[in-house]
Amino acid sequence: MDADGTRPGFAVRLFDGASDGYDRQAAILSYGQYGRWRKRLVEAAREAGVDADSQVLDVATGTAGIARALVAKTGCSVVGVDQSPGMLGTARKNLERSPADAGGRVVLTLGTAGRLPFADDSVDAVTFSYLFRYVQDPAATLADLVRVVKPGGFVGFIEFHVPPGPLWKALWKAHTRVVLPTAGRLHSRGWHEVGRFLGPNIERFYSEWSVERLTEAFGSAGLVDVDHRLMSLGGGLVMWGRKAEEAVSVESTARAEARQAEDKPVVLARGASA
Ligand SMILES: C[S@@+](CC[C@H](N)C(=O)[O-])C[C@H]1O[C@@H](n2cnc3c(N)ncnc32)[C@H](O)[C@@H]1O
Repeated sequence: MDADGTRPGFAVRLFDGASDGYDRQAAILSYGQYGRWRKRLVEAAREAGVDADSQVLDVATGTAGIARALVAKTGCSVVGVDQSPGMLGTARKNLERSPADAGGRVVLTLGTAGRLPFADDSVDAVTFSYLFRYVQDPAATLADLVRVVKPGGFVGFIEFHVPPGPLWKALWKAHTRVVLPTAGRLHSRGWHEVGRFLGPNIERFYSEWSVERLTEAFGSAGLVDVDHRLMSLGGGLVMWGRKAEEAVSVESTARAEARQAEDKPVVLARGASA
């Protein structure tokens, strides 16, 4: 078993194998919490101005759960991108049954985060979920995600998290090491693999990428107003920010400092910080 999860082709195989019955299994195995995290992300997007005129890119869209929730809550249009044909197949079936697809407001396309086939500054918002654990360089992937958002646009994601408190962490360990693999095996071979993989993979990710480091990475990628919520006793993380209106270049910072030294008023670009 590749507990790292970032080997090329690994995630495609894992999710193709789990695409059948994905939504039901995910809801059961997360004790219904998955849906709450999705709602929190969609709410953050709405608060940031995503509305019926917005074009949103939902990366790692899977079965289009976030894409459908975005449309239902804000009326926006969504392009859902995923690298798993199996997950996109289930997403298509969901959309056929879902009023959220009225007017074809969700379009699905095969694609890989880090090599997004979209122009710079071309969408109003980017959402993604459970993605960073499957890429070799989360910071580089984030840079590509931020690249396609217009200045001022929303960027936000959902990820699992390890509960910080000792009691909840012990229960989380039991859940991920015993319940997930056992329940997965009862459903299918693909879900057994997911069930065995998730717990160690999530812990490994946070041993390198704490919430603080993720927050810093958001800042380094050009995002401002970065905020996050730990959900469900720390079992889930929702983080978001806004692309700065204007990149704060080393040159402009130096110029501002020179003006300050001359005691002249300095007008900072929106989103830039002193
Ligand atoms: C847990 S599922 C996402 C589920 C969905 N967004 C939701 O909220 O229900 C994670 C998805 O990430 C996709 N994925 C993983 N690595 C990816 C990458 N580098 N590029 C695009 N999709 C990726 C997988 O194929 C899978 O569908």
